[in-house]
Amino acid sequence: MPLRTALYMPQAPARTGRFRVNLILTFRSGVTSMGELEEFLSENGLSGAKKISKGWSSDIFLAQDAKGRKCVLKVLHAKSNRRHMSQKETEFLRLANTIGVGPHWLKTDSSRNIVMMEFIDGVPFSEWIFGKISKTELKNFIDSLIEQARKLDEIGLDHGQLAGKGKNILVRGGMPVIIDFEKASRSRKVHNVKVLESFLFRSKDSGVVKRISELLGC
Ligand SMILES: Nc1ncnc2c1ncn2[C@@H]1O[C@H](COP(=O)(O)OP(=O)(O)O)[C@@H](O)[C@H]1O
Ligand SMILES: [Mg+2]
Repeated sequence: MPLRTALYMPQAPARTGRFRVNLILTFRSGVTSMGELEEFLSENGLSGAKKISKGWSSDIFLAQDAKGRKCVLKVLHAKSNRRHMSQKETEFLRLANTIGVGPHWLKTDSSRNIVMMEFIDGVPFSEWIFGKISKTELKNFIDSLIEQARKLDEIGLDHGQLAGKGKNILVRGGMPVIIDFEKASRSRKVHNVKVLESFLFRSKDSGVVKRISELLGC
């Protein structure tokens, strides 16, 4: 990893030589520089990377291979301290894939903190739900989402961020794809179904709950 990565760190007090070296080493094993992303792209025959999202800890890039097939790269960005991002995202996404949940994991470069996965060509749930959808479409969507959550509960994987703004649920062809497994856990008590049911049907003063009950007519 290039030394310039270390320069992203906030003003580091450099009282002693050893303290400074430690800090630099810590930061050198973390964030991904643009140079490293370029190396990853060229090593994997990928091109045309463009940033499609900037989150708290990661940037999401869309890229394509020589045959024009699209993929997503989740890359730890410069200001983040979540240095275990790629390790965690990989462990939990791969586990979710075993039960048919989440985008297909494709590759991980843990030294550069990059996770490559299937591109989900869809829209966030938070947008989709306020669009033009029929009662049947919504019912099918909800059945599939709850079923995926039930399977996650069954294997003991708690996603941890299923509710909130509904950004970790993408909708492709009317069906849900759960993304962002970085903060999932195998040791927390699982509550995927419970969280989703409250997000969809019970949360007070929620626009999502109102919209769903309007569409379902209940
Ligand atoms: N596999 C994917 N396919 C399509 N879009 C994705 C994919 N993964 C992430 N995104 C987009 O990037 C955003 C941020 O990704 P996410 O994994 O949730 O990162 P963060 O930890 O920053 O929330 C998502 O809300 C979604 O819009
Ligand atoms: Mg997210």
